[in-house]
Amino acid sequence: MSKPPHPWWKSATVYQIYPASFLDANGDGTGDLAGIIAKLDYLKDLGVDVIWLSPIYRSPLADMGYDISDYEDIDSRYGTLEDWDRLLEGAHARGMKLIVNLGLFDRMDLVHAWFTASKSSKNDPKRDWYIWRPGKVVDGEELPPNNWKSVFQGSAWERDSATGEYYLHLFVSKQPDLNWDNPVVRSAVWDVMRFWVRRGCDGFRMDVINCISKTDGLPDAPLVDHTQYYQPASMYYANGPQVHKYMKQMHTEVLSSHDLITVGETPFTHESSELAAYVLPQNRELNMVFQFELMDIDSPSESPLLRKPWTLRELKAIVGRWQRFMHGDGFWNAIYIENHDQARSVSRFGNDSAQWRAVSAKILAIFEVTQAGTLYVYQGQELGIKNFPQTWGIEEYKDVASQNYWNLAKDTIGLKSRQKAQGKEDVEMSDLLNSFAQKARDHARTPMQLKWNASPHAGFTTGTPWMRVNDDYREWNAEQQIGDGTSVHAFWRRALKVQKTHDVLIYGDFVMLLEAHEQVFAYTRNYGSTSALVLLNFKEGKVEIDLGEVVGVAGYTFVLGNYENEAIGLEEKVTLREYEGRVYVREALLD
Ligand code: GLC
Repeated sequence: MSKPPHPWWKSATVYQIYPASFLDANGDGTGDLAGIIAKLDYLKDLGVDVIWLSPIYRSPLADMGYDISDYEDIDSRYGTLEDWDRLLEGAHARGMKLIVNLGLFDRMDLVHAWFTASKSSKNDPKRDWYIWRPGKVVDGEELPPNNWKSVFQGSAWERDSATGEYYLHLFVSKQPDLNWDNPVVRSAVWDVMRFWVRRGCDGFRMDVINCISKTDGLPDAPLVDHTQYYQPASMYYANGPQVHKYMKQMHTEVLSSHDLITVGETPFTHESSELAAYVLPQNRELNMVFQFELMDIDSPSESPLLRKPWTLRELKAIVGRWQRFMHGDGFWNAIYIENHDQARSVSRFGNDSAQWRAVSAKILAIFEVTQAGTLYVYQGQELGIKNFPQTWGIEEYKDVASQNYWNLAKDTIGLKSRQKAQGKEDVEMSDLLNSFAQKARDHARTPMQLKWNASPHAGFTTGTPWMRVNDDYREWNAEQQIGDGTSVHAFWRRALKVQKTHDVLIYGDFVMLLEAHEQVFAYTRNYGSTSALVLLNFKEGKVEIDLGEVVGVAGYTFVLGNYENEAIGLEEKVTLREYEGRVYVREALLD
């Protein structure tokens, strides 16, 4: 059977680098482009096809570079445009590609020239490049134009004294939202994209791209949080009325004439049908999006920094739904369980105790490489890096999301409700610190553990690292794992090879087995005449499953497992050990 043609980006493994924490070549404590260039062979050897860099543009770092003061220049902390060119050249020379992080058009720093002009006067030609509104007066008191809450707490509006008006910022106040409804703004955005395409980039990751169009009239959000005035308002800015018109225009203006990989970040949306329009090929918008349903599985509605329990059955249902969603119609998934906004997967979805950490990091690798979609691996995931210890104090949490949430809990409203709940003046904050220890974004941002134990700070820097290195770096680091065939790193390398040699794992359909099972996630994938069978025991505790009634076991060959490398035959009755995962592949059975 001749294979249908597939675009290159479907089988690509994308590796996300958080530049500030990857490798510091000049000793100033912050990672840089020269550090990344020095590790290109490491990435190639792992099996990486595409490198995605979190923002490296000029920025005051209010939100670690997601606040940008110049889209067409590199922050001197990271290097220069020439360093970026060298990185691109080095990646291309090794057959890898490079994605830039450019979904930032809805937010930019206050010192960006566009915003400086916009705020200078109500009559400035760039005034309408941002979303300005007068405040509203209630009982003689001036309030922001509406009650929208910023994702990072407080009002989503900031008053500017020059004109007495407020500008909208969905995230930190230093990230004013661009007004995409203005066609001149959109063409300025296309120009920025063309700048990077001309420079040779191979694709874009677009931040919160589903939030570029706001509901007309910017209505007040419904009251759901009775503890404060500001209310979550994503129903008025996520997947807004014009978003698809703007995405199609972006495609026509920039994307259509280049062979790029494009992935949009689409938070606040769990419904696959709401995201379909961004991805279906005939719509000509994006290749794929990062859906948030799985990442939100353990987050209560108040905040992703808090934790709620989840069950394997819930996880199976979410994954199964997205795997099957419009598969035959061309909907394409982005597969990820880690990035710079999420805590470490082995701590969150696995078991990071000394006994089970490696085996459970490996089963998560199997879980990832056996799903249909383009695979995204986050720096350190290939080493089984876990969350930093619970004993670290709040001062180690550098992220604005953690800091603002903490401060809110300690300010008047938060403090009063805590005092009431705890029945004392001097309140306890340990519950919040415990949540952060499990869920904060900071865990993804600690420096990479690249070197041998003799090197201070895991070899990340010769200076003082901008963020503390995880305490376990002497035992858990790249240099130690590379020489060891049983390491998490060696397993990821093998798993990526296995995925690449079996098209069924990338393109096949998805059929869930044992749907109601509470401990085992089992599925088959089918592509042409080939099938794959995946068995994953997600828990600590052996389990016996009976495949007899759900799938024929004849003809399957063992291709990957996290306990041992030798083939393990397949019988109808299978006993899976603690956190054991196995993958079998079968070519067509002859009658
Ligand atoms: C995107 C980024 C996140 C950032 C947010 C606001 O969601 O992934 O790190 O905080 O945009 O800037």
